[in-house]
Amino acid sequence: MKKFKRYLVTSALPYANGPVHIGHLAGVYVPSDIYVRYLRLRGEDVIWVCGSDEHGVPITIKARNEGITPQDVVDKYHELIKESFARLGMSFDIYSRTTSEMHAKTASDFFRTLYDNGKFIEQTTMQYYDEEAGTFLADRYIVGTCPHCQNDRAYGDQCEKCGSTLNATDLINPRSAITGSKPVMKETTHWYLPLNEYEEFLRQWILEGHKEWKANVYGQCKSWLDLGLQPRAVSRDLDWGIPVPVKGAEGKVLYVWFDAPIGYISATKELTPDWEKYWKSEDTKMVHFIGKDNIVFHCIVFPSMLKAHGGYILPENVPANEFLNLEGDKISTSRNWAVWLHEYLDEFPGKEDVLRYVLCANAPETKDNDFTWKDFQTRNNNELVAVLGNFVNRALVLTDKYFEGKVPAAGELTDYDRDTLSELPAIKKSLEENIENYRFREALKDAMAVARLGNKYLADTEPWKVIKSDQTRVATILNLSLQITANLAIAIEPFMPFTSAKILKMLDAQPFGWDHLGTFDILPVGHKLGKAELLFEKIEDSVVEKQLKKLEDTKKANLAREAGKKAEPQKENISFDDFGRMDIRVSTILAAEKIAKTKKLLKLTIDTGIDKREIVSGIAEYYTPEELVGRQVLVLVNLEPRELKGVLSKGMILMAADATGKLVLLSPGDKVNNGAIVG
Ligand code: 2FM
Ligand code: ZN
Repeated sequence: MKKFKRYLVTSALPYANGPVHIGHLAGVYVPSDIYVRYLRLRGEDVIWVCGSDEHGVPITIKARNEGITPQDVVDKYHELIKESFARLGMSFDIYSRTTSEMHAKTASDFFRTLYDNGKFIEQTTMQYYDEEAGTFLADRYIVGTCPHCQNDRAYGDQCEKCGSTLNATDLINPRSAITGSKPVMKETTHWYLPLNEYEEFLRQWILEGHKEWKANVYGQCKSWLDLGLQPRAVSRDLDWGIPVPVKGAEGKVLYVWFDAPIGYISATKELTPDWEKYWKSEDTKMVHFIGKDNIVFHCIVFPSMLKAHGGYILPENVPANEFLNLEGDKISTSRNWAVWLHEYLDEFPGKEDVLRYVLCANAPETKDNDFTWKDFQTRNNNELVAVLGNFVNRALVLTDKYFEGKVPAAGELTDYDRDTLSELPAIKKSLEENIENYRFREALKDAMAVARLGNKYLADTEPWKVIKSDQTRVATILNLSLQITANLAIAIEPFMPFTSAKILKMLDAQPFGWDHLGTFDILPVGHKLGKAELLFEKIEDSVVEKQLKKLEDTKKANLAREAGKKAEPQKENISFDDFGRMDIRVSTILAAEKIAKTKKLLKLTIDTGIDKREIVSGIAEYYTPEELVGRQVLVLVNLEPRELKGVLSKGMILMAADATGKLVLLSPGDKVNNGAIVG
């Protein structure tokens, strides 16, 4: 295998049109942070670049919807994303943005080089145009039915349901996303990168040269190449983006997928004057971390751009993850079905590593996976608290108790001691192989194996019992336990950097290099330890329930919105007199009790201001009697009385059925006297 002198790691630039959620984290950022932290611990020359993707139609659509400028949108989300990444310990060497001047110049020069060297085809074609809005409809400005899966909300560049990449003209029944009108065809000129001319190069490079790529990545590339590549437009008729640097191209900008990957180059340039060393030397190993929806752009389009330009290296690997679902449903920004990073950080202070741990343990590496709050709780309580936290705490507390917090000297080792220690080099080897092959879930299991080893060692050797008879033996046990703790701080650093730092603080030790992992004299005898603290705390059921309730509310709000869109058609008109015949009064519920042998019925005693009477109401499934007493409601008092389950019900309490079918009582917004007439 080739030995590289340095690493250039990139992570997909998130669109600055919304906050980052757990799907982004599990798919791209947590794995890349682990990879980079590991390489740094090994002392490798590595840089990790990322930044916000600030062009493209989703951003202009958002700005239009909110009545603000695209710059306002990206300023807001760039800051939010950058800050929340930092709070989660994402250790980018630079987190830049594609509205930077450096990027505009870099992308513009890149385009110009390809243009000057005749790498583009200039083509005038008919494209969709919205006459009402007076604009061409690029990418997501046009929606219609996907020809592959019949999804009627497919975009002009992609169908999010089946993942197909589309041209606007592929859509069935196209309509404008701006005005909803049917677009017309109008002539426009654009520049195309003839991907078909790069097919042979891509075949050789990927299909022959990179059989080691992950099956999902290799498979997608193969099917693209087998279908045959077409020229792709790299410019758009839009007023948000980097202007096409060609005379006569006014009103045209670079396609966002042309400029965004060049963002990796611009960010490197911003980071270091030595940037060419990373981008132009065959000694550099470049790795792109992405989600599966970005595969074609990173494996087919960007490499073709780099090849067309010349002088740049190509990625050695493109480890793309599949998608993470949330509680069984696809994560969706528009449906607010997500766990948002900034909200998590606010609601779970000090639990950054718990999220990092759970997202890595459950990462969608080979197939889509599910995040559930129950699993989050279980992993925290059964793995982080019970194994990792428990081991470290016992090692430190016992040393404090028996040896005044100083590392005791190890005496002669038993076979069991030696067997225990001999496991560490094997764990280290496996951990390295797994990380280097982008198997982060397995790598995390290896890191946790160090904690399990220590936990088992203490449980088996029982120093708290042995201390009564053999202090020297306890010294050995605790020396070894502390050495394992130091090993653990190294092994978990890429995954849980905050916890690793806490352990080092408790050991009063400086960070160790990767080479120390698997060695047993890291902490010198007599070294005074710091103060023991708890690393993790149990997550109670109520915390999980609160999060599930939040999701439940989101679901209801979505259903209500959907239902609102499809409200029942209006009933036939009635006369003013018809309405006037209904006598509706504000009333107060005085008493409520369940009617025996029924599930839905409550007998309510109410004060209508006119009299006190009984009404039977079918709301027992939605309200408890206690919730109802004292509440003001609206009552149709002149509805003909009728007997229900032996009670004469005199009137009807007004309610609305929400989108889920749940009945909701209607009450006056302000306190009103009973008997007040509604109308
Ligand atoms: O899918 C996305 O979120 C894109 N913004 C990723 C861009 S990656 C790169 F090319 F910049
Ligand atoms: Zn589709």
